Amino acid sequence: MVRNFDQRPLSREVVERILANGRRAPSAGFTQGWAFLVLEGPEETSRFWDATFASPEARASFRWQGLFAAPLLIVCLSHKDAYLDRYAEPDKGQVDRDEQRWKVPYWDVDAGFAAMLMLLTAVDLGLGALFFAVSEHDRFRAAFDVPDGYTPLGALAIGHPLPDEPSRSLARGWRPSDAVVHRGRW
Ligand SMILES: Cc1cc2nc3c(=O)[nH]c(=O)nc-3n(C[C@H](O)[C@H](O)[C@H](O)COP(=O)(O)O)c2cc1C
Repeated sequence: MVRNFDQRPLSREVVERILANGRRAPSAGFTQGWAFLVLEGPEETSRFWDATFASPEARASFRWQGLFAAPLLIVCLSHKDAYLDRYAEPDKGQVDRDEQRWKVPYWDVDAGFAAMLMLLTAVDLGLGALFFAVSEHDRFRAAFDVPDGYTPLGALAIGHPLPDEPSRSLARGWRPSDAVVHRGRW
């Protein structure tokens, strides 16, 4: 993840390639119940930052000021209702739209897969990218007319990377394989 960007805009081809690959993510029942809100350039991206920071002071004291220069933001949203509808179709055979039937929220899983494909595409193109939490959901929704029922899982900031300070979380190190991988049985 990169949190410091050059302001240089990305070409139309690059932006469309990232979005096209996001749309190719796998999805439960081929529901494709994701949505991407694409914000390009300082006018659109600053509306996002204004909405998602609670105050100008909070924005001014934010640790990664270079994040605000990212020329492209893609907010990844999941849409639970699309899955409840899809799985009530005859070939899936759920008798109703009861959310309790879902052991795993595939609406969020699938939108996460799409976000990952967009991150990988950005890195593959030599760009830098960050996946980060969207705070202030209500203000975000209001600023961009996001319909009810769509959950902003997180946003991608994408652009030409500049040197940056890595997350302090990295000091944790990678967990060893034998703590994570269980072979044959747990
Ligand atoms: C679900 C999720 C949420 C994250 N939220 C944030 C965030 O809000 N702000 C941030 O700076 N990084 C965020 N990150 C990035 C992680 O801090 C980063 O991926 C992790 O520290 C590993 O670093 P690396 O991706 O550079 O290897 C998030 C990552 C994921 C997967």
